[in-house]
Amino acid sequence: MRTQIGIIGAGPAGMFLALLLQSRGIECVVIEQRNREYVEGRVRAGVLEQSTVELMRHLGIGERVAREGLVHRGTHLAIDGKLFHIDFAALTGGKTVTVYGQQEVMRDLYDAAVQRDIAIVWDAEGVTLSGLEGDLPAIDFRHRDALEHIDCDYVVGCDGFHGVCRKFIPASVLNVFERAYSFGWLGILADVPPANPELIYANHERGFALASMRSNERSRYYIQCPQNEDAAQWPDERFWDELCLRLGPEIGAKVTRGPSFEKSLAPLRSFVSEPMRWGRLFLAGDAAHIVPPTGAKGVNLAVADVRLLSTALEQYYKQGSSRGIDNYSRRALERVWKAERFSWWFTSITHRFPDMDAFARRLQIAELNYIQESRAAQQVLAENYVGLPLEVD
Ligand code: FAD
Ligand code: PHB
Repeated sequence: MRTQIGIIGAGPAGMFLALLLQSRGIECVVIEQRNREYVEGRVRAGVLEQSTVELMRHLGIGERVAREGLVHRGTHLAIDGKLFHIDFAALTGGKTVTVYGQQEVMRDLYDAAVQRDIAIVWDAEGVTLSGLEGDLPAIDFRHRDALEHIDCDYVVGCDGFHGVCRKFIPASVLNVFERAYSFGWLGILADVPPANPELIYANHERGFALASMRSNERSRYYIQCPQNEDAAQWPDERFWDELCLRLGPEIGAKVTRGPSFEKSLAPLRSFVSEPMRWGRLFLAGDAAHIVPPTGAKGVNLAVADVRLLSTALEQYYKQGSSRGIDNYSRRALERVWKAERFSWWFTSITHRFPDMDAFARRLQIAELNYIQESRAAQQVLAENYVGLPLEVD
């Protein structure tokens, strides 16, 4: 088989890239190790930046998000149960975010891919890459007991944090930057109305809590807990009790309890691997960087990477210019690091750290009080949360 761009991974990065390339007349094949049901079933992100929603519309997959997505003009922060509001729209010249689950985004992407005849190979095992330093890289894998081989012009590793593509960059070239956190988020989904029309990021003495949602009938709640916590130790009642305590009496009283149908622990990690291009291999999304979920940046960053990359590849094929390709890693990383900084900072002011003494806790509360009182500080938070500009030329 021969194609122009071989994409490894059919997550958000891989599928947005496939649709973008196809809309620009560039051929690609997507190779995914799992099946569609598995990838579509993974409960992950919930908040889309305006630019991500606009891209969906531009790609012709924006109808359902426009109808079912919840547009949020701001968010709430809470300090030990006392709430204050950050008005994104007023602070950023009208920008908003949209609550629409990653599972829904994936469904829209796959439906469009099927309609547009984009080739996706599901259940591909043992992907290996070769020829990345030459002119004709290749992808080899097993599919239904047969060995498959695809020659292409470029390979894009969209295979997430645990993927294989990053490992094909020689150790002498690769630079990895990492911050580990000793805690994770225990999240639940329940078909109960959300406690509040907007999200609440709550800093509490006992740890962080987040009140989010998927729709007006479906709530998504998280509580900070130790990284190796066993979700089975958290029967629903224990979860609801702890959540209400951390959200405080005012919001706690508005929490509707009900049986959870999903409960899982997500680790928190900050991670960047540089460069995002080596020879004929590009990395995009979680394959190159991870942020803690506090800033709701994961999916949006993956989308920004592939917007940049698809424009660079279009310049290469249509104008014969490799300028965009050569600049991809530097330009993507510049923006990635800003999102890393924001996600790390937002995590640092909202979570309980194990080594936090009384002084550190007072500083945290002072910072949140300052944000509450200063329009300038609110603006810094708001413009990062709604998404920093992406210059795609
Ligand atoms: P992925 O979504 O990881 O997709 C990679 C794809 O590559 C997968 O389908 C995988 O099966 C496939 N793959 C991997 N290895 C191979 C291989 N060897 N061969 C072929 N295919 C392969 N972000 C937020 O903003 N908010 C959140 O609340 C949030 N919660 C999260 C919870 C969890 C448990 C995780 C893991 C992530 C969460 N994220 C969240 C982050 C967000 O989901 C990711 O940033 C986003 O999915 C990145 O998309 P991606 O396409 O780069 O990677
Ligand atoms: C979610 O709804 O899953 C969600 C929302 C905001 C975040 C992280 C996760 O910052």
